[in-house]
Amino acid sequence: MGEYLIKGGNKIIGEIDICGAKNSILPILASVVLNENESIIHNVPKISDTFVAIDILKSIGCKVELKGSTIIVNSKDINNIEVPAGPVREMRSSIIFLGGILGRFKKVKISYPGGCELGARPIDFHIKAMRQLGATITEEQGFLMCEAKKLIGTRINLDFPSVGATQNIMLAAVFAKGETIISNAAKEPEIVDLQNFLNAMGASIKGAGTDMVVISGVQKLKAVEYKIMPDRIIAGTYLVATSITNGEILVKDVIPEHLNAITSKLIETGCDIKTFENSIWLKAPERLRAIHRLKTYPYPGFPTDMGPQFMTLLSIANGNSIVEETIFEGRNKHISEFMRMGANIVLLKDGMTSLITGVKNLNGTTVMAKDLRGGASLVLAGLCAEGETIVQNASFVERGYEHIEKDLKKLGANIVLR
Ligand code: UD1
Repeated sequence: MGEYLIKGGNKIIGEIDICGAKNSILPILASVVLNENESIIHNVPKISDTFVAIDILKSIGCKVELKGSTIIVNSKDINNIEVPAGPVREMRSSIIFLGGILGRFKKVKISYPGGCELGARPIDFHIKAMRQLGATITEEQGFLMCEAKKLIGTRINLDFPSVGATQNIMLAAVFAKGETIISNAAKEPEIVDLQNFLNAMGASIKGAGTDMVVISGVQKLKAVEYKIMPDRIIAGTYLVATSITNGEILVKDVIPEHLNAITSKLIETGCDIKTFENSIWLKAPERLRAIHRLKTYPYPGFPTDMGPQFMTLLSIANGNSIVEETIFEGRNKHISEFMRMGANIVLLKDGMTSLITGVKNLNGTTVMAKDLRGGASLVLAGLCAEGETIVQNASFVERGYEHIEKDLKKLGANIVLR
């Protein structure tokens, strides 16, 4: 596992293009399984999670070619309906292949994902929904065996607007007979991207982006060419990097509306922000202000995937902040590492609420990434800390950022991956 070596104190200044979204490419790569024709996908982020999804596609018999940031998948000759256990354990969101393979072949065997860095992360909504669509599911030695004579559209109400469950149902319902209605669906932009992709290959889905998604079953799909939407979390991470280093940035190739919850919080901290059609400009204030209360919510609320990065910011802001995580119970593993750098954070007994008193400076030291976004937040901490910071376990960060070190270096940071 590599590590980042960062010498803090340099301002982040310049312009950066944002690559395609991790949380879009993964469900889209699972949905190409539904299609017997060729899928060409552009703006693919070359992150390790994408490579895990490619491995799964190859293991079930797809032909996959990656040329630059374009993937061409031919899934005509899939000859295996069993998803190998390794990738599912490595990447929990592989569970999305359940809907894709079941949708096309009416049968799938997939490893039951274990716990993950963010906590237990159950898949009960996914399983219940597949049963409602007519599948029989049994568990055998850690594997889920899922089979259906026919999938039949029905009304499915999610107890919580789960992103993964909404996507899995969309995939499984593409060929289901009649209409599938998902209520209390997740409204994330990545759900809209998935709907657009599926419709471009001949599916009939509407409502994505609202809390009701309606899938009308179709009989066949067609070849598709599609460009993945930009990654709003990478964009948000670089905006935070700029805010904590007194910098100035133009983040390009983004959909500013997707970042409304993030930019409005940055404005509260005193940042000057201007949004254009496809870009966001930010100039940091002399000293950042604390945020009285920052609480994560499903979209369009403040994203859980930006909580840790904002904790870096609030650690050096002027005043006291409360950060409440509401989605994942294991999200706060980076706090003990922040404290090693001199942050003043009290994590309450629930493990979800943190009280942060901003300090003037963080101090560089050796810290360890324990998950993707927590790892990114430590890299950010290194940018504004005094002295040298080593962030170990870089591979966590590489799951969601193509080359964070190259991007930040281009913007003026002193950072290497070694
Ligand atoms: C997706 C994103 C992840 C993001 C998260 C929330 C991908 C690949 N990952 O993860 O980056 O942080 O959305 O925005 O898109 N839950 C259940 N039972 C289930 C499913 C979920 O209880 O069957 C719970 C989870 O434990 C969690 C909440 O629902 O507390 C939301 O999870 P969900 O939206 O499903 O997250 P993911 O799709 O796993």
